[in-house]
Amino acid sequence: MTTTLTLIQPDDWHIHLRDGAALSTTVPHAAASFNRVICMPNLVPPVKTTAEAIAYRERILAALSNSDITNERKAGFDPRMVLYLTDHTSADDIKMAVESGVVSAVKLYPAGATTNSADGVTDILGRAPVFEAMQKYGLPLLVHGEVTHNNVDIFDREKRFLDDVLSKIIANFPALKIVMEHITTADAADFCLAQGDNIAATITPQHLLFNRNHLLVGGVKPHYYCLPILKRANHQQRLLEVATSGNPKFFIGTDSAPHATHTKESACGCAGCYSAVHALPLYAAAFESMNALDKLENFTSVFGARFYGLPVNTSSITLIKKEQTIPESYPYLDGKSLTPLLAGQTLAWQQV
Ligand code: NCD
Ligand code: ZN
Repeated sequence: MTTTLTLIQPDDWHIHLRDGAALSTTVPHAAASFNRVICMPNLVPPVKTTAEAIAYRERILAALSNSDITNERKAGFDPRMVLYLTDHTSADDIKMAVESGVVSAVKLYPAGATTNSADGVTDILGRAPVFEAMQKYGLPLLVHGEVTHNNVDIFDREKRFLDDVLSKIIANFPALKIVMEHITTADAADFCLAQGDNIAATITPQHLLFNRNHLLVGGVKPHYYCLPILKRANHQQRLLEVATSGNPKFFIGTDSAPHATHTKESACGCAGCYSAVHALPLYAAAFESMNALDKLENFTSVFGARFYGLPVNTSSITLIKKEQTIPESYPYLDGKSLTPLLAGQTLAWQQV
């Protein structure tokens, strides 16, 4: 039985660090495990320009330097910025982003799809000049793949996005690098498999470990509520299969998304699971459930770097098979708290 796992230092290709006072919690949590982190731009207001991305990166680095994590982790942590695509983003914005060297990708949120996405794109195929520029420069498009029409059932929104939107983007821009972020369905997994090497997908720990029963049976459990929403068990099973298959199209992206506890435990609770602190033990549990711990390192530490055209990290982390209890909460913002995914529950693995 495997009791120690040494992994090349992982990266997180999809994380929400937020801004302001939140950074003093989220940055050291992320930096404890990850080197490169792709920082989602859905701030209020969103990160729309290269200048805003550079300023946001500075705020993240200031929080890092003020934190009490080790100098080694401070040196390893490398926040990578993303521009939030709007109806007004231009091809010139893309050129400037590429030339800055600070922007690693552009994020497409269909307007209204998720937390802080009100400024998202309303006419996706109207963004052709932007996609052309991104294709030319090799700048990846990260997609939140859900349609947002009121008449489409929330459990069908990912599948409809594949059929109605993503297939058209791919047909029109066949060389555009695209990451299907936080996929949740067998449909998305199989769609990704059917595309060329320029199309990949990230998978969160919660979509590997849970299905909609965890969210809804025996009472509504708001800490399992994220978008895209957890689906049926057969979808969870397909995600486990592709994540552990060794196919380089599928890699880590935690989508760790902090919301203060009281905003999730509410009559209109926010979407997002906070998984940054325990992400690797969570993924280890998922891979172990498939008898596939030997496939974990490529998923957490190799395939994403390769897709983004970056070298793999030279440092490493160790997980040991030793039970730990996830804390009930962390202090967050001014006197508030942050409830992590699986708060108070036991995990078989821990990061040392
Ligand atoms: C994210 C957030 O809170 O910013 N929430 C979520 O449920 N995943 C937004 C997102 O990634 O869709
Ligand atoms: Zn996200």
